[in-house]
Amino acid sequence: MNLAGRISRLRGEGAFEVLVRARALEATGRDVVHMEIGEPDFPTPANIVAAGRKAIADGFTKYGPTQGEPELRQAVAEHVSATRGIPVSETQVVVTPGAKPILFYSMLALLEPGDEAMYPDPGFPIYEGVIGASGATPVPMPLLESRGFSIDLDRFADALSDRTRLIILNSPQNPTGGTIPPADLQAIADLVAERDLVVLSDEIYNLIAFDEKPTSIASIDGMADKTIILDGFSKAYSMTGWRIGYGVFPQWIVDAICLLQVSATSHTATFTQRAAIEALRGPQDSVQLMVEEFRRRRDVIVNGLNSIPGIRCARPGGAFYAFPNVQRTGMSSSELAERILQDAGVACLAGEAFGACGEGYLRFSYATALDRIEVAIGRIRRLLTRS
Ligand SMILES: Cc1ncc(COP(=O)(O)O)c(C=O)c1O
Repeated sequence: MNLAGRISRLRGEGAFEVLVRARALEATGRDVVHMEIGEPDFPTPANIVAAGRKAIADGFTKYGPTQGEPELRQAVAEHVSATRGIPVSETQVVVTPGAKPILFYSMLALLEPGDEAMYPDPGFPIYEGVIGASGATPVPMPLLESRGFSIDLDRFADALSDRTRLIILNSPQNPTGGTIPPADLQAIADLVAERDLVVLSDEIYNLIAFDEKPTSIASIDGMADKTIILDGFSKAYSMTGWRIGYGVFPQWIVDAICLLQVSATSHTATFTQRAAIEALRGPQDSVQLMVEEFRRRRDVIVNGLNSIPGIRCARPGGAFYAFPNVQRTGMSSSELAERILQDAGVACLAGEAFGACGEGYLRFSYATALDRIEVAIGRIRRLLTRS
């Protein structure tokens, strides 16, 4: 018996594979600086942990509504209204175990064989895999380093077709840390205004922005009705293991998403949802402190990488990734990432793990302590000045 063909379309996450190899190296006694995983190194804030504990003690341990607890959906609607400047009703919100199911459910609900869906390249590898598994054709949308890793608008316009049903945007972005400027969002909105398609705007890094506040395409005139906003708690509230995220959908899609969720997981853990209410309604100072620390680290890693011969690194506006161009080292990005791991003891990811346009780049997650980032820079500098 063979596996279904759709399984071969899915793509794993390179970060987990590199983590396994880095751990194997550590098991031999080597010190490794971990810059491969996209997970904040801060603990979940104490008030959120306390709310989760209390929820379990209070008996929030049973089945609940598929769409999510009404109080949490209300808190999400208020949060998204305030941060994106658009009216959002709690009836549009679906709470999921992590933000990833929003991708899965949206694509299963909207895409069919013969459809096309556009995704950023380089981009979060899950996009291409799930588009493919849905039966639709993934169409890469190149990002340009020269435009701060925003979209190549000419190629975007050329790639749009009558079969385009879904466009995935991600800002601030994984793996580049780039943000899409408002003028580009407006240009995209103009190009899709008359088209029968949906934009899935992955805004999971929305609160982790260093310069301007990111703009959501949903806030552009006419776009709210054709935009799904994906967001969650994993990154901004350091809640990766709690598994909680959400989508804000045009109302006509919500029932289909709930049908998929009741078929797959029933709903998100009840006590986790209580903790998430505290995340949104409680004090926000831990988010601010974390973002300030990420900003300090960003400056150290970007300046450090730019001081190494053969490396050029753009200054990212958000998330916690640096995506240096390493073409002038003369090595492919996978060869260089391997040498940096084996010879310098620094774990990072080759850019092509994020799509063909990622070749020639590396991704460093700076969700690691400042002194470890400095150690990593020193080691990479020694490696590249000696070779
Ligand atoms: C761009 C992007 N979208 C979505 C997710 C998924 O988030 P979650 O862990 O909440 O499922 C990630 C996590 O790495 C991400 O980087």
